[in-house]
Amino acid sequence: RGKRAFIAGIADDNGYGWAIAKSLAAAGAEILIGTWVPALNIFESSLRRGKFDESRVLPDGSLMEITKVYPLDAVFDSPEDVPEDVKANKRYAGSSKWTVKEVAESVKEDFGTIDILVHSLANGPEVTKPLLETSRYGYLAAISASSYSFVSLLKHFVPIMNPGGASISLTYIASERIIPGYGGGMSSAKSALESDTRVLAFEAGRKHKIRVNTISAGPLRSRAAKAIGFIDMMIDYSTENAPLQKELSAEEVGNAAAFLASPLASAITGAVVYVDNGLNAMGVGV
Ligand code: NAI
Repeated sequence: RGKRAFIAGIADDNGYGWAIAKSLAAAGAEILIGTWVPALNIFESSLRRGKFDESRVLPDGSLMEITKVYPLDAVFDSPEDVPEDVKANKRYAGSSKWTVKEVAESVKEDFGTIDILVHSLANGPEVTKPLLETSRYGYLAAISASSYSFVSLLKHFVPIMNPGGASISLTYIASERIIPGYGGGMSSAKSALESDTRVLAFEAGRKHKIRVNTISAGPLRSRAAKAIGFIDMMIDYSTENAPLQKELSAEEVGNAAAFLASPLASAITGAVVYVDNGLNAMGVGV
Protein backbone atom coordinates (compact mmCIF):
# COMPACT_ATOMS: atom_id res chain seq x y z
CA ARG A 1 0.00 0.00 0.00
CA GLY A 2 1.17 3.55 -0.72
CA LYS A 3 1.81 5.92 2.16
CA ARG A 4 -0.77 8.47 3.28
CA ALA A 5 0.35 12.00 4.13
CA PHE A 6 -1.37 14.86 5.94
CA ILE A 7 0.15 18.23 5.08
CA ALA A 8 -0.86 21.18 7.23
CA GLY A 9 -0.30 24.66 5.77
CA ILE A 10 -1.22 24.77 2.09
CA ALA A 11 -3.38 27.60 0.75
CA ASP A 12 -1.88 28.15 -2.70
CA ASP A 13 0.68 26.66 -5.07
CA ASN A 14 3.59 28.97 -4.14
CA GLY A 15 4.71 27.70 -0.75
CA TYR A 16 6.80 24.86 0.59
CA GLY A 17 3.72 22.83 1.59
CA TRP A 18 2.53 22.57 -2.01
CA ALA A 19 5.99 21.51 -3.21
CA ILE A 20 6.24 18.88 -0.46
CA ALA A 21 2.80 17.55 -1.41
CA LYS A 22 3.96 17.22 -5.01
CA SER A 23 7.18 15.39 -4.13
CA LEU A 24 5.29 13.03 -1.84
CA ALA A 25 2.63 12.45 -4.53
CA ALA A 26 5.34 11.79 -7.12
CA ALA A 27 6.72 9.14 -4.76
CA GLY A 28 3.28 7.50 -4.63
CA ALA A 29 1.78 8.94 -1.45
CA GLU A 30 -1.89 9.78 -1.01
CA ILE A 31 -2.30 13.48 -0.20
CA LEU A 32 -4.53 15.01 2.49
CA ILE A 33 -4.28 18.72 3.16
CA GLY A 34 -5.06 20.99 6.11
CA THR A 35 -5.85 24.54 4.97
CA TRP A 36 -6.14 27.58 7.24
CA VAL A 37 -9.87 28.33 7.65
CA PRO A 38 -9.80 31.93 6.38
CA ALA A 39 -7.99 30.79 3.22
CA LEU A 40 -10.12 27.70 2.60
CA ASN A 41 -12.77 29.07 0.23
CA ILE A 42 -10.39 30.68 -2.18
CA PHE A 43 -8.05 27.66 -2.14
CA GLU A 44 -10.84 25.18 -2.82
CA SER A 45 -12.48 27.27 -5.52
CA SER A 46 -9.12 27.84 -7.23
CA LEU A 47 -8.50 24.09 -7.12
CA ARG A 48 -11.94 23.38 -8.60
CA ARG A 49 -11.59 26.00 -11.31
CA GLY A 50 -8.29 24.44 -12.41
CA LYS A 51 -6.19 27.44 -11.43
CA PHE A 52 -3.50 25.13 -10.03
CA ASP A 53 -3.61 22.53 -12.81
CA GLU A 54 -0.33 23.63 -14.36
CA SER A 55 1.43 23.35 -11.03
CA ARG A 56 -0.21 19.99 -10.31
CA VAL A 57 1.81 18.32 -13.07
CA LEU A 58 4.11 15.61 -11.68
CA PRO A 59 7.38 14.45 -13.31
CA ASP A 60 5.56 11.54 -15.04
CA GLY A 61 3.06 13.96 -16.63
CA SER A 62 0.11 13.00 -14.43
CA LEU A 63 -1.65 15.51 -12.16
CA MET A 64 -1.26 15.43 -8.39
CA GLU A 65 -4.51 14.25 -6.83
CA ILE A 66 -5.57 15.78 -3.53
CA THR A 67 -7.81 13.25 -1.83
CA LYS A 68 -9.30 15.66 0.70
CA VAL A 69 -8.88 19.20 2.00
CA TYR A 70 -9.66 19.77 5.69
CA PRO A 71 -10.25 23.21 7.19
CA LEU A 72 -7.74 23.75 10.00
CA ASP A 73 -6.77 26.43 12.47
CA ALA A 74 -3.71 25.16 14.28
CA VAL A 75 -3.87 27.74 17.07
CA PHE A 76 -6.92 26.00 18.53
CA ASP A 77 -6.66 22.49 19.97
CA SER A 78 -10.33 21.77 20.64
CA PRO A 79 -13.71 23.54 20.40
CA GLU A 80 -13.52 24.71 24.04
CA ASP A 81 -10.51 26.86 23.11
CA VAL A 82 -12.29 28.88 20.45
CA PRO A 83 -13.31 32.38 21.59
CA GLU A 84 -16.79 33.72 20.76
CA ASP A 85 -15.60 36.32 18.27
CA VAL A 86 -13.85 33.66 16.19
CA LYS A 87 -16.88 31.34 16.37
CA ALA A 88 -19.06 34.21 15.15
CA ASN A 89 -16.68 35.25 12.37
CA LYS A 90 -18.40 34.33 9.14
CA ARG A 91 -15.33 32.80 7.53
CA TYR A 92 -15.09 30.41 10.49
CA ALA A 93 -18.81 29.84 10.95
CA GLY A 94 -18.99 28.58 7.35
CA SER A 95 -16.77 25.57 8.21
CA SER A 96 -16.78 23.10 11.05
CA LYS A 97 -14.45 20.75 12.94
CA TRP A 98 -11.32 22.74 12.22
CA THR A 99 -9.56 22.55 15.60
CA VAL A 100 -6.51 20.27 15.68
CA LYS A 101 -8.21 17.58 17.74
CA GLU A 102 -11.29 17.53 15.50
CA VAL A 103 -9.23 17.39 12.29
CA ALA A 104 -7.29 14.39 13.62
CA GLU A 105 -10.62 12.75 14.52
CA SER A 106 -12.02 13.43 11.04
CA VAL A 107 -8.92 11.99 9.35
CA LYS A 108 -9.21 8.92 11.56
CA GLU A 109 -12.87 8.53 10.65
CA ASP A 110 -12.22 9.01 6.92
CA PHE A 111 -8.99 7.05 6.48
CA GLY A 112 -8.03 5.27 9.73
CA THR A 113 -4.32 6.02 9.73
CA ILE A 114 -1.61 8.15 8.17
CA ASP A 115 2.13 7.60 7.68
CA ILE A 116 3.48 11.10 7.16
CA LEU A 117 2.67 14.36 8.96
CA VAL A 118 3.95 17.64 7.53
CA HIS A 119 3.79 20.99 9.35
CA SER A 120 4.34 23.79 6.85
CA LEU A 121 2.79 26.73 8.61
CA ALA A 122 3.83 29.78 10.56
CA ASN A 123 2.29 33.05 11.60
CA GLY A 124 3.58 36.02 13.57
CA PRO A 125 1.31 39.08 13.70
CA GLU A 126 4.24 41.35 14.56
CA VAL A 127 6.85 39.73 12.29
CA THR A 128 7.79 43.10 10.78
CA LYS A 129 8.62 44.56 14.21
CA PRO A 130 12.07 44.14 15.79
CA LEU A 131 12.07 41.82 18.82
CA LEU A 132 12.81 44.79 21.05
CA GLU A 133 9.51 46.35 19.97
CA THR A 134 7.43 43.16 20.02
CA SER A 135 4.50 42.95 22.43
CA ARG A 136 3.88 40.00 24.72
CA TYR A 137 0.76 39.27 22.68
CA GLY A 138 2.69 39.25 19.39
CA TYR A 139 5.45 37.07 20.77
CA LEU A 140 3.09 34.49 22.27
CA ALA A 141 0.95 34.49 19.12
CA ALA A 142 4.05 33.70 17.02
CA ILE A 143 4.95 30.81 19.33
CA SER A 144 1.37 29.55 19.37
CA ALA A 145 0.90 29.51 15.60
CA SER A 146 4.45 28.54 14.61
CA SER A 147 5.75 26.24 17.38
CA TYR A 148 3.04 24.88 19.64
CA SER A 149 0.97 24.19 16.52
CA PHE A 150 3.49 21.45 15.71
CA VAL A 151 3.44 19.98 19.22
CA SER A 152 -0.35 19.93 19.05
CA LEU A 153 -0.53 18.39 15.57
CA LEU A 154 1.92 15.64 16.48
CA LYS A 155 0.18 15.01 19.79
CA HIS A 156 -3.20 14.57 18.12
CA PHE A 157 -2.01 12.69 15.03
CA VAL A 158 0.53 10.36 16.64
CA PRO A 159 -2.18 7.91 17.80
CA ILE A 160 -3.26 7.43 14.17
CA MET A 161 0.26 7.31 12.70
CA ASN A 162 1.56 3.92 11.62
CA PRO A 163 4.82 2.84 13.33
CA GLY A 164 7.74 3.72 11.08
CA GLY A 165 6.00 6.95 10.13
CA ALA A 166 7.63 10.33 9.94
CA SER A 167 6.86 13.95 10.63
CA ILE A 168 8.53 17.03 9.17
CA SER A 169 8.34 20.75 9.85
CA LEU A 170 9.94 23.79 8.23
CA THR A 171 12.30 26.08 10.08
CA TYR A 172 14.57 29.02 9.29
CA ILE A 173 18.17 29.89 10.19
CA ALA A 174 16.97 32.98 12.10
CA SER A 175 16.55 30.52 15.00
CA GLU A 176 20.32 30.37 15.51
CA ARG A 177 21.85 33.36 13.70
CA ILE A 178 20.83 37.01 13.66
CA ILE A 179 18.60 37.75 10.66
CA PRO A 180 17.51 41.38 11.04
CA GLY A 181 13.94 41.77 9.78
CA TYR A 182 12.69 38.35 10.96
CA GLY A 183 11.01 39.85 13.98
CA GLY A 184 7.94 39.63 16.17
CA GLY A 185 9.29 36.62 18.05
CA MET A 186 9.43 34.52 14.87
CA SER A 187 13.14 33.87 15.46
CA SER A 188 12.25 32.67 18.97
CA ALA A 189 9.43 30.52 17.56
CA LYS A 190 11.81 28.78 15.15
CA SER A 191 14.28 28.13 18.01
CA ALA A 192 11.47 26.49 19.97
CA LEU A 193 10.44 24.44 16.94
CA GLU A 194 14.00 23.12 16.51
CA SER A 195 14.40 22.29 20.18
CA ASP A 196 11.02 20.58 20.20
CA THR A 197 12.10 18.54 17.16
CA ARG A 198 14.74 16.89 19.33
CA VAL A 199 12.54 16.29 22.38
CA LEU A 200 9.60 15.07 20.28
CA ALA A 201 11.92 12.79 18.30
CA PHE A 202 12.81 11.12 21.58
CA GLU A 203 9.27 10.88 22.87
CA ALA A 204 7.54 9.86 19.62
CA GLY A 205 10.46 7.59 18.70
CA ARG A 206 10.44 5.64 21.95
CA LYS A 207 6.68 5.46 22.26
CA HIS A 208 5.46 5.17 18.69
CA LYS A 209 8.50 4.52 16.42
CA ILE A 210 7.80 7.83 14.68
CA ARG A 211 10.65 9.99 13.36
CA VAL A 212 10.63 13.78 13.80
CA ASN A 213 12.81 16.08 11.70
CA THR A 214 12.80 19.68 10.58
CA ILE A 215 14.08 21.24 7.36
CA SER A 216 15.90 24.55 7.69
CA ALA A 217 14.98 25.97 4.32
CA GLY A 218 16.51 28.83 2.39
CA PRO A 219 14.44 31.80 1.20
CA LEU A 220 11.42 31.27 -1.07
CA ARG A 221 9.04 33.91 -2.43
CA SER A 222 5.91 32.41 -0.78
CA ARG A 223 2.87 34.33 0.32
CA ALA A 224 4.01 34.22 3.97
CA ALA A 225 7.53 35.35 3.06
CA LYS A 226 6.28 38.28 0.99
CA ALA A 227 4.36 39.49 4.05
CA ILE A 228 7.65 39.77 5.98
CA GLY A 229 8.88 42.24 3.40
CA PHE A 230 12.55 41.37 2.88
CA ILE A 231 12.32 38.20 0.83
CA ASP A 232 13.84 39.53 -2.40
CA MET A 233 16.83 40.82 -0.47
CA MET A 234 17.28 37.43 1.23
CA ILE A 235 17.11 35.61 -2.10
CA ASP A 236 19.70 37.97 -3.64
CA TYR A 237 21.92 37.62 -0.57
CA SER A 238 21.81 33.85 -0.82
CA THR A 239 22.53 33.80 -4.54
CA GLU A 240 25.51 36.04 -3.96
CA ASN A 241 26.96 34.38 -0.87
CA ALA A 242 25.94 30.70 -0.69
CA PRO A 243 28.30 27.91 -1.83
CA LEU A 244 25.73 27.05 -4.53
CA GLN A 245 24.96 30.27 -6.37
CA LYS A 246 21.48 29.53 -7.66
CA GLU A 247 17.97 30.42 -6.58
CA LEU A 248 16.47 27.74 -4.33
CA SER A 249 13.38 26.09 -5.77
CA ALA A 250 10.50 24.88 -3.61
CA GLU A 251 10.87 21.53 -5.35
CA GLU A 252 14.34 21.05 -3.83
CA VAL A 253 12.80 21.36 -0.37
CA GLY A 254 9.93 19.08 -1.43
CA ASN A 255 12.37 16.41 -2.54
CA ALA A 256 14.33 16.61 0.73
CA ALA A 257 11.05 16.24 2.63
CA ALA A 258 10.11 13.18 0.54
CA PHE A 259 13.51 11.67 1.34
CA LEU A 260 13.15 12.38 5.07
CA ALA A 261 9.66 10.86 5.07
CA SER A 262 10.86 7.73 3.27
CA PRO A 263 12.55 4.53 4.52
CA LEU A 264 15.77 5.87 2.93
CA ALA A 265 15.96 8.10 6.02
CA SER A 266 15.02 5.37 8.52
CA ALA A 267 17.85 6.27 10.93
CA ILE A 268 17.43 10.05 10.75
CA THR A 269 15.44 11.62 13.56
CA GLY A 270 15.73 14.69 15.78
CA ALA A 271 17.65 16.45 13.00
CA VAL A 272 17.68 19.94 11.58
CA VAL A 273 18.44 19.34 7.89
CA TYR A 274 19.59 22.37 5.90
CA VAL A 275 18.16 22.73 2.42
CA ASP A 276 19.54 26.16 1.64
CA ASN A 277 22.25 25.86 -1.04
CA GLY A 278 24.71 25.63 1.88
CA LEU A 279 24.29 29.25 3.02
CA ASN A 280 24.25 28.14 6.70
CA ALA A 281 27.84 26.97 6.44
CA MET A 282 29.25 30.37 5.50
CA GLY A 283 30.93 32.47 8.17
CA VAL A 284 31.19 35.64 6.09
CA GLY A 285 29.60 36.80 2.87
CA VAL A 286 31.99 36.79 -0.09
P1 NAI B 1 3.00 29.76 2.86
O1 NAI B 1 2.27 31.05 2.93
O2 NAI B 1 2.87 28.96 1.62
O3 NAI B 1 2.60 28.81 4.07
C1 NAI B 1 2.19 29.21 5.33
C2 NAI B 1 0.82 28.63 5.55
O4 NAI B 1 0.45 28.71 6.91
C3 NAI B 1 -0.28 29.35 4.77
O5 NAI B 1 -0.94 28.43 3.94
C4 NAI B 1 -1.22 29.85 5.86
O6 NAI B 1 -2.56 29.84 5.46
C5 NAI B 1 -0.95 28.83 6.95
N1 NAI B 1 -1.34 29.24 8.30
C6 NAI B 1 -1.06 30.38 8.96
N2 NAI B 1 -1.62 30.37 10.18
C7 NAI B 1 -2.27 29.17 10.31
C8 NAI B 1 -3.03 28.57 11.34
N3 NAI B 1 -3.27 29.19 12.49
N4 NAI B 1 -3.55 27.33 11.12
C9 NAI B 1 -3.33 26.69 9.95
N5 NAI B 1 -2.60 27.22 8.95
C10 NAI B 1 -2.08 28.44 9.12
O7 NAI B 1 4.52 30.13 3.16
P2 NAI B 1 5.85 29.25 3.30
O8 NAI B 1 6.94 30.26 3.29
O9 NAI B 1 5.90 28.15 2.33
O10 NAI B 1 5.76 28.68 4.77
C11 NAI B 1 5.77 27.31 5.10
C12 NAI B 1 6.79 27.04 6.20
O11 NAI B 1 8.10 27.26 5.66
C13 NAI B 1 6.67 27.98 7.40
O12 NAI B 1 6.93 27.25 8.58
C14 NAI B 1 7.79 28.97 7.16
O13 NAI B 1 8.25 29.59 8.35
C15 NAI B 1 8.84 28.04 6.58
N6 NAI B 1 9.98 28.67 5.92
C16 NAI B 1 9.78 29.55 4.88
C17 NAI B 1 10.85 30.17 4.27
C18 NAI B 1 10.64 31.11 3.12
O14 NAI B 1 11.57 31.84 2.73
N7 NAI B 1 9.47 31.14 2.50
C19 NAI B 1 12.24 29.91 4.70
C20 NAI B 1 12.35 28.94 5.78
C21 NAI B 1 11.25 28.38 6.36
